[in-house]
Amino acid sequence: MRGVLLFSLLLLVHMPIVARAAALHDAAMKGDVAGIAAAMDAGAGVDNIDGGATPLYLAVRGGHMAAAKLLLERGADVNAAPTPLGPALMPALAKRRIDLINLLLDNGADPNAYRNREAALHVAVRSGCLDCVKALVEDGADVNAKTKDGKSPLHLAKFKGQHEIADYLTSHGVVLPTPAPISKKLAAADVEKGRTAFTRLCGYCHNATPDGGDNQGPSLWNVVGRDKASVAKRRYSDALLAWQGVWTFEDLNKFLLEPMLTTPGVYMEMTGVPDDTERTNLIAYLRTLSDKPIALP
Ligand code: HEC
Repeated sequence: MRGVLLFSLLLLVHMPIVARAAALHDAAMKGDVAGIAAAMDAGAGVDNIDGGATPLYLAVRGGHMAAAKLLLERGADVNAAPTPLGPALMPALAKRRIDLINLLLDNGADPNAYRNREAALHVAVRSGCLDCVKALVEDGADVNAKTKDGKSPLHLAKFKGQHEIADYLTSHGVVLPTPAPISKKLAAADVEKGRTAFTRLCGYCHNATPDGGDNQGPSLWNVVGRDKASVAKRRYSDALLAWQGVWTFEDLNKFLLEPMLTTPGVYMEMTGVPDDTERTNLIAYLRTLSDKPIALP
């Protein structure tokens, strides 16, 4: 009984603050500048969280420039990110609102902030906004940032056919990884281990028998020495179609390291085989998928 009484008392004491916080969030969401000022003058904290969001996040999400400006002038933390939704920069990028993006960046927003599994630059690329991409990169965003599942901004841009964004990223510091050569290690590779790795990592999408045909990915029978992207009637990505020549051991080495990074825009969205020994074994196994395996280097 006493507990209940105490609880009610506490509630009474806290109620005005909660109400002020709610009023601030309400005003921010509507872009009501006078309402924001009134709620703050009544004591609401500028970074209070309601429903997982700060007032600044709500003002930006609503597209309200004046409200966002006022909150920043009143000391809002531009990088506050109370939930996986990330800081206020994210809705500005998703809405392609370059004025809000510049306001936030000028006030110290982190151009390398993350939302859930992706960085700000990925959000900008997803929204297809070249100006947003430029604003972030000019402010120091890492053009080689990866999503949690290994996608670079350049991969996303090429995958979606956003050529201007892809060209901009390419000329602003994208690094395509290149592994050390494996040709000399192939003779000593463990083909059986390669087969196991194939079953675990590739068998879900690729057949490896002469009559297996295509699956989600093209048949890999005879793949070593075969022209790239040449299986009849398949729709390959522009990324793979643009890569000339036959599949050599070293081209496979490069491709399989991290397909989405070495071959941005590729339809094979898997993280790859970063371990050098495992990749060598796997390629030695791929060589055996033929009636007449080509000679070892
Ligand atoms: C999620 C499905 C998926 C997985 C897993 C996968 N691939 Fe692929 N693979 C594809 C697709 C789809 C393509 C076609 C890519 C394109 O057009 O950009 C492809 C293309 C290829 C090619 C080029 C073939 C050609 O005809 O030029 C090779 C080689 C290849 N994969 C090897 C592998 C190996 C080795 C693994 C395992 C480490 C693997 N893939 C795992 C889906 C997959």
